[in-house]
Amino acid sequence: MAKTKTIYACRECGASFPKWSGQCPDCGAWNSLEESVAAPAAAKGPKGRGNWAGTASAEVVRLADVQGEDSIRRLSSGLTELDRVLGGGLVPGSVVLLGGDPGIGKSTLLLQAQAHLAANHASLYVTGEESAAQVAMRARRLDLDPARLECLTETSLETVLATAAARRPAFMVVDSIQTLWTEALQSAPGAVAQVRECAARLVQFAKQSGCAVVLVGHVTKEGALAGPRVLEHMVDAVLYFESDSGSRFRLVRAVKNRFGAANELGVFAMTDKGLKAVGNPSAIFLSGQSEPAPGSCVLVTREGTRPMMVEVQALVAPSTLSNPRRVAVGIDQNRLGMLLAVMNRHAGIQIGDQDVFVNVAGGIRVNETASDLAIALALKSSLKEQALPKGLVAFGEIGLAGELRPVYNGEERLREAAGQGFDQALVPEGNLKGVKARITARGFRTLAQALQAV
Ligand code: TYD
Ligand code: MG
Repeated sequence: MAKTKTIYACRECGASFPKWSGQCPDCGAWNSLEESVAAPAAAKGPKGRGNWAGTASAEVVRLADVQGEDSIRRLSSGLTELDRVLGGGLVPGSVVLLGGDPGIGKSTLLLQAQAHLAANHASLYVTGEESAAQVAMRARRLDLDPARLECLTETSLETVLATAAARRPAFMVVDSIQTLWTEALQSAPGAVAQVRECAARLVQFAKQSGCAVVLVGHVTKEGALAGPRVLEHMVDAVLYFESDSGSRFRLVRAVKNRFGAANELGVFAMTDKGLKAVGNPSAIFLSGQSEPAPGSCVLVTREGTRPMMVEVQALVAPSTLSNPRRVAVGIDQNRLGMLLAVMNRHAGIQIGDQDVFVNVAGGIRVNETASDLAIALALKSSLKEQALPKGLVAFGEIGLAGELRPVYNGEERLREAAGQGFDQALVPEGNLKGVKARITARGFRTLAQALQAV
């Protein structure tokens, strides 16, 4: 019998080493190396460079002859927002990883998608987390037709693959990848090596059979997908399910997508009949106050391919601490520090001795620099205790020299604002060129000018 070789693989980055150590030499994480069994090496290739005699050469294709994206028929999940995040639907033969906190609605979403797809395609729901009775109960609660839903409760990868190969589904859900285990490895289910090997075999299955596979992945306390990050490299798309605690709205974000725009955002509401797509998310992210309050400014941000209105709220209050607090929720903390410094240096606004809190309403995260101007306006509005005019929106990037820099898709953002009933916009001068949107847009070259204008 061949001797099994033990390796130590990092839980965080997936790198493997022959010896254990307290810190991963690759990514620097502490206590993340786990013992696992090395996968059996593949059959040895020919020895020595250039000695390829006996190896059959493979066929090379011209890209023009390859079936294009247009001729691929994407599978619609029946949920418009999920299709949008996927770039227009599931691509046959692709593998999607769906991550999210426990209880956020991953199983619910995929069961709903399966119920829609099952009408025209063979589909399979593999669950290693719940019993068939629990899945059936959920399907009944969601008013889905249980007659067409096929479920397999199994945790052995080999059995799952054999069943899938026999039934040839066009859509398969694996809930979750951490519960699967393969006989090829001796480590426990959920261990790095197991998760990686199971995912690799499922990717192989998807590519060979043309089945669209969705893997559910658990998320750790730090917010990263549990198990090795290598999973993200293997799959075609990585979707994250996010939510504000206590909110009934759920956001699905594509952090990677080989068949669509990354950072695309889908919005759902959790109801007693499952997840419902929210078609007009701008409406829910505005706080719904009819009269503007001090410290609030509406921003037109862009998530993936769609502009969206969100409300930025700021609170500036005198501090009793020697180190005043700087709290940012929904925006980058460092960005807030930078904005405060620029406002101080270039617009003469002193906030150094005040506590500063900034929050984006609706539990959404805004990662783009176009939010700078709206944050600065909200901060000034709170400091002066004066509300901004009603029907005003703002966007624009602020540079370290205090200049306002244009952002991309300005016209589209203005159109969205006009469509939502806003009538005034403060934007960088560079975004004014050729604007046709029905909104009064004022352009500024510097932050100081923009702050003075309101
Ligand atoms: P679930 O899909 O089991 O979450 P996950 O698979 O991500 O762990 O979601 C369960 C949660 O959703 C649970 O807290 C109850 C809630 N829920 C509803 O509010 N309405 C519904 O119709 C269903 C099925 C679940
Ligand atoms: Mg679940």
